[in-house]
Amino acid sequence: MKVKIQSKEKMNAEIAKLYIDMVKEKPNCVLGFATGSSPLGVYAKIIEAYQNGEVSFKDVTSFNLDEYVGLDETNDQSYRYFMNHNLFDHIDINKENTHVPSGIGDYEEKAKEYDKLIEEKGGIDLQILGIGSDGHIAFNEPNTPFDSLTHVAELASSTIQDNARFFSSIDEVPTKAVTMGLASIMKAKKIVLIATGLNKADAVKALLEGLVTIKWPCSILRNHPDVTVYVDHDAFSKVK
Ligand code: GLP
Repeated sequence: MKVKIQSKEKMNAEIAKLYIDMVKEKPNCVLGFATGSSPLGVYAKIIEAYQNGEVSFKDVTSFNLDEYVGLDETNDQSYRYFMNHNLFDHIDINKENTHVPSGIGDYEEKAKEYDKLIEEKGGIDLQILGIGSDGHIAFNEPNTPFDSLTHVAELASSTIQDNARFFSSIDEVPTKAVTMGLASIMKAKKIVLIATGLNKADAVKALLEGLVTIKWPCSILRNHPDVTVYVDHDAFSKVK
């Protein structure tokens, strides 16, 4: 696992370049996207590159990590809305080739097909991840089995609290989500993870120094051959 301690500005530019270079090298690549505030700067840089005519996403397929149960794409807190609004509406990707797990209707059945769909498209070439303060990746909370595939997950109370800032009250935060599993994420060929701010410091310490344990879901990434962790000084502050 590589670790890069950088300013937010530098990591956004570097990770965006990885995405852009991937698309230039393999125009029909499969990109993995994440939500939350961490990847927003990366998406802004990708949009900039597209607008400058540097890259086209017309043949790209994408998969997102997760979606809240109960929120449809018209809900501005749904992850589908987030992706449309913060990336897909501003680049030439074909929306039909963008996949976000469904959190409505027969979402449990659809979750079971998500991994198969990723496999059919050739697997994820490059996956970006954020990290929860409890070490979750996507919505794989502590004690999620390492062999999990896409499934419906209960959100930890710390995650509900962390994410309440995006909702008008904590009671509106969904308590369940559909999420790619830890085994699904580990199949990505290349992974980059962003962690910034003091509230990620414990999770980053567990990611980089602790045991590989289901208590810290992020720690599974130590078993992956190609992960780069981008951190700022605050997130890195508890690492010895
Ligand atoms: C949510 C998402 C995660 C994300 C995490 C951190 O729980 N499901 O994928 O990594 O939030 O969010 P932020 O980047 O806003 O700190």
